[in-house]
Amino acid sequence: MSTPTPPSVYNRANPFKARLIANYSLTSAGSNKDTRHVVVSLGGSGIVYMPGDSLGVVPRNFPRLVAELLPHLGLDVEATVDQPTGPAPLREVLINQYILNRVSKKFVKALLEKLPEGGKKQQLAEIVNNPEAFDDYVFTRDYTDVLVEYPASFSAAEFLPLANKVAPRLYSIASSPKAHPGEVHLTIAVVKYATHGREKFGLASGYLCHGQDLNKDEVPVYIQPTKHFHMPAPDAAIIMVGPGTGIAPFRAFLEERGMTGATGKNWLFFGDQKKATDFLYEAEFAEMQSKGLLTRFDTAFSRDQAQKFYVQDRMQESGAELWKWLQDGAYFYVCGDAKRMARDVHQKLIDIAQEHGGLSPEAAKEYVEVTLAKTEKRYLKDVY
Ligand SMILES: Cc1cc2nc3c(=O)[nH]c(=O)nc-3n(C[C@H](O)[C@H](O)[C@H](O)COP(=O)(O)OP(=O)(O)OC[C@H]3O[C@@H](n4cnc5c(N)ncnc54)[C@H](O)[C@@H]3O)c2cc1C
Ligand SMILES: NC(=O)c1ccc[n+]([C@@H]2O[C@H](COP(=O)([O-])OP(=O)(O)OC[C@H]3O[C@@H](n4cnc5c(N)ncnc54)[C@H](OP(=O)(O)O)[C@@H]3O)[C@@H](O)[C@H]2O)c1
Repeated sequence: MSTPTPPSVYNRANPFKARLIANYSLTSAGSNKDTRHVVVSLGGSGIVYMPGDSLGVVPRNFPRLVAELLPHLGLDVEATVDQPTGPAPLREVLINQYILNRVSKKFVKALLEKLPEGGKKQQLAEIVNNPEAFDDYVFTRDYTDVLVEYPASFSAAEFLPLANKVAPRLYSIASSPKAHPGEVHLTIAVVKYATHGREKFGLASGYLCHGQDLNKDEVPVYIQPTKHFHMPAPDAAIIMVGPGTGIAPFRAFLEERGMTGATGKNWLFFGDQKKATDFLYEAEFAEMQSKGLLTRFDTAFSRDQAQKFYVQDRMQESGAELWKWLQDGAYFYVCGDAKRMARDVHQKLIDIAQEHGGLSPEAAKEYVEVTLAKTEKRYLKDVY
């Protein structure tokens, strides 16, 4: 296994102010998605990382969100607030320190208290007092949406404790530091949706992909070393399942193996919606295949046919060979969506152990969940 990443002076509490030096689309016109390749320069920081690590990013809001919000709160654009370091412009504090793309429940409850008795207050009380309705209400709204529906004024001192503080987001690193010294590459699916007549972005994916100019030293980042998602010995075979942005660490693994001349075989499963628009890193993987670095490459484009077709369906088609690789000592890696994909891939592994290993359902489950995952540590997940 690769050695763990050494600690850095830069961490969650003390992030490094990095520069974005590239940001381009990996999906093409006609895609339902906006998935981007973002390159962060670590220039001069001394930060080191290993394939399998993640990058922590401290996001901030689009300034226009604050510009929209302040008049609805009844606050002046020039207002200042007391901070531990002294008075600071409220505008800056809001942009940098608070989550503004999603309203907090605390705020909605405080707003309810402020509303005068009457139909509007009654209407909001019914939402707040129904847990399911309250979840739905805050899921699609930001502060401006709510204040448009229920106008009320808040002082800065009232508002700030009601908003949630920004928290870092993690992104699986998509580059080998040997292939790209001083850089971290990321594969980011931008969260974007329109609700209540206004366009919304995910806080960090919006900020990194659409809210930050290139070549400005101001993106706070740190390495989150992986505890378990390390690469195996150079001669070990690896099977990698990474649909969507789950592809990120496997680009890093393959680059690393290319740079180090690792002899182990590499089998990649990738999937996304449509081949024509969502085939992330298509040219790079084609080159890796032609060089023999990528021993096997199977793709599953879910929306290119009437029936959904997923990476686990490709695993099923090649079940006998996949089982043979596992029996020969291959490591099995999964990255991407935890809720549906990783669960289904897990079940498919169990099915393959049954079908091609001749194991009973119980023995197949034991093999995958205990022998492979825990005893031999050859089944590794980076899912979110
Ligand atoms: C270890 C790890 C590795 C990761 N690696 C990657 C990676 O390589 N690439 C990547 O892209 N992401 C990755 N993620 C996910 C990433 O950290 C963020 O969670 C993701 O980018 C969304 O964050 P955000 O701040 O942009 O969105 P947020 O502001 O946090 O909002 C996201 C939320 O928006 C909500 N939402 C989505 N659509 C709608 C809608 N129509 N209406 C209302 N709400 C909606 C969703 O519920 C979602 O929870 C990783 C996560 C972890 C934990
Ligand atoms: N917790 C999180 O924050 C989180 C986790 C994962 C994804 N997301 C969000 O989802 C969006 C896109 O993410 P992404 O680009 O990484 O891709 P993704 O949505 O995970 O989709 C990648 C591919 O996986 C397919 N898929 C769907 N269900 C599957 C299943 N059960 N088994 C196997 N494959 C399955 C999809 O098909 P279909 O879509 O055609 O069904 C698509 O072809 C982003 O906005 C991202 O932020 C968020």
